[in-house]
Amino acid sequence: MNLARRTMNTPALAAIYEKAWRPAVFYLASGRTMSADRRDAVAALRLDGAQKVLDIACGPGNFTHYLSERLSGSGYAVGVDYSEPMLARARTDNAGPRVAYLRADARRLPFADGSFDAVCCFGALYLIPDPLAATREMVRVLAPGGRIAITTSHGTDSPFGHASRIVGGWSGLRVFDDDTFPELFAALGLVDIDQRVHRMFQYVSATRPA
Ligand SMILES: C[S@@+](CC[C@H](N)C(=O)[O-])C[C@H]1O[C@@H](n2cnc3c(N)ncnc32)[C@H](O)[C@@H]1O
Repeated sequence: MNLARRTMNTPALAAIYEKAWRPAVFYLASGRTMSADRRDAVAALRLDGAQKVLDIACGPGNFTHYLSERLSGSGYAVGVDYSEPMLARARTDNAGPRVAYLRADARRLPFADGSFDAVCCFGALYLIPDPLAATREMVRVLAPGGRIAITTSHGTDSPFGHASRIVGGWSGLRVFDDDTFPELFAALGLVDIDQRVHRMFQYVSATRPA
């Protein structure tokens, strides 16, 4: 297991992730606050009621719970992560009547095709070995008419990109081209593809045609 994956598996990081690590590290990398990212996630996923939402690599549930509170009727959100310490924090800090957490690997999701109306993965694809396979899995479990939204690194020509090429294999962090996810989404038949870039991060969302 590489350094990034080992770090995500420690109780110490899980304990400080939502209140300290995420706000500081993501603000430096993207210039954006978690509140702004949460609001944009609701808009990108077009949440407005009884949807079934899947949050991949949910960490301590810092988005899953927020998204679940935007749902109504039979709507619910499921957070999936492979790290037990992160899931333990999620169950303690971000429980709610419309939230459930499950341990699974993003590359092999234990859900049938088309099970969710909205699927998201924030701040994790650069940590996941074989991130494109994980993205295909997200699209597989997305229902026709549903929305997918991801946030991940961008900028292979930036100093961050050059550094990641040198230490990438050891650290477990990677940097993606701007084209990677829009092209993959288009190849998978998704439409209405939107990409925004904030410093070292890209935000990409799309619709699976009905
Ligand atoms: C930086 S946290 C992101 C948490 C949250 N989504 C956010 O945006 O703040 C990355 C998470 O990805 C999870 N992760 C990494 N590889 C994974 C995999 N293959 N399957 C499921 N979760 C994975 C880690 O355990 C960690 O909790």
